[in-house]
Amino acid sequence: MTERIYNFSAGPAVLPEPVLEQAREDLWSLGDSGVGILEHSHRGGPFDAVIEAAEADCRSLAGVGDDHAVLFLQGGASTQFFMLPANLLPEGGTADYVNTGSWSKKAIKEAKLYGNVHVAGSSEDENFSYIPDLASLSCSDSPTYLHFTSNNTIFGTQFQSEPTPPAGAFLACDGSSDAFSRPIDLTRYGVYYAGAQKNLGPSGVTLVVIRRDLLERKERELPTMLRYATHAEQGSRYNTPPTFGIYLMGRVFRWIQDQGGLELLGKQNEEKAALLYDVLDESAFYEAAAKAGTRSLMNVTFRTPSPELDAQFVKESLAAGLSGLKGHRSVGGMRASIYNAFPRQGCQVLAEFMKDFAQRNG
Ligand SMILES: Cc1ncc(COP(=O)(O)O)c(C=O)c1O
Repeated sequence: MTERIYNFSAGPAVLPEPVLEQAREDLWSLGDSGVGILEHSHRGGPFDAVIEAAEADCRSLAGVGDDHAVLFLQGGASTQFFMLPANLLPEGGTADYVNTGSWSKKAIKEAKLYGNVHVAGSSEDENFSYIPDLASLSCSDSPTYLHFTSNNTIFGTQFQSEPTPPAGAFLACDGSSDAFSRPIDLTRYGVYYAGAQKNLGPSGVTLVVIRRDLLERKERELPTMLRYATHAEQGSRYNTPPTFGIYLMGRVFRWIQDQGGLELLGKQNEEKAALLYDVLDESAFYEAAAKAGTRSLMNVTFRTPSPELDAQFVKESLAAGLSGLKGHRSVGGMRASIYNAFPRQGCQVLAEFMKDFAQRNG
């Protein structure tokens, strides 16, 4: 069998090996059913067990109680950019957004289709290299919600804690690139969503955790599939859901539990990122793209002294078995995405490679 290499891809991204091994067996036959997970009806008993376990494990990891519904939807986080305001932003109402990068901007663009958007804070002035100070956010008078992007995949910045919405507003979050990577209190959120393909599973399934009282709001007529209430009422099975994605997300939740839960996983993620940030901080050769204090534990962005050396770094690192390190074009340089399933040893290998490359080219 081909040996796996270290995959620093920003998403779809590396998945836990024990999960992949289990999936290999379950593709052939889910348990002793004699039918593979891809081939089971979404309405049969075996899949009932799969989706119920995924939801239960999601709830127990993040302390989600009955006040919130857990939904497994399709269309990626990009669909949530418009589903959230379409369902919950009243005609003429205002939603506040913190603009911390490309994904926030896309979310803002969609919200403007349904109501007013007030930008409560932004880091666009310095090409999104930092997270605005939470105390400096200035919300509008009575927004429906305050939306933020907890981790900025492209720029490599991350909120250290969540902003507080004004009284009467609920908190909404795009958690796609740091979902379940550290302890989170989802009871503080009105709507939390995350595309799975970075921290939680394969592309094609999106986790949405939504406060149940919000499901009762009906701001406008919407197609049935676009209403949160439809999916909540039907247990995410109004139509045929992404069964394999839900299965795999459930396996990843179980794997996180096996790691000791979010507290321990968060510590592991901190240690992994520190291996790389320590090299950046100790080196005069590299420049970290994100400002200290708001750097991401998931996407470590950095540059060498020149675009030519950046290109050489990417080429040589790939030859050394480190793939996916080229940075996004809007930031340049390199990006090491080290989500939940990325192994600590891979960070050690990259740290050594970085030191060696700096020595040879500095
Ligand atoms: C923070 C963030 N939000 C949203 C998206 C878009 O997600 P999707 O491709 O699932 O629509 C991404 C994808 O990389 C992302 O990183």
